[in-house]
Amino acid sequence: MPQVHWLMSNDDRVSVDVNEGTNLMDAAQFAGVAGIAGECGGCLSCATCHVYVDQAWLQACPPMGDVENAMLDVVIAPRTVQSRLSCQLIASKALDGVVLRVPQ
Ligand code: FES
Repeated sequence: MPQVHWLMSNDDRVSVDVNEGTNLMDAAQFAGVAGIAGECGGCLSCATCHVYVDQAWLQACPPMGDVENAMLDVVIAPRTVQSRLSCQLIASKALDGVVLRVPQ
């Protein structure tokens, strides 16, 4: 089962084993990660699941779609090259150990 780590702005960490196929917004909510609202339920219309993927894990993430790319232009926290919407990241062996920083 892939393990996912969320880092908070105060450097608290939440680490959880996530079933393969689960999107990482749902996983964050199930784990009680603060700051991942996921208001649209993962249908790419809210951008409240914004995370910063650790640089070392960017290449392991699936390519960004056009809608996700557009939604990242309206996130509240600054967009960076590490920005992704966590509802579009799916737990998999390739992401076992992924580190996601939650915007402040
Ligand atoms: Fe709404 Fe990800 S949960 S865009």
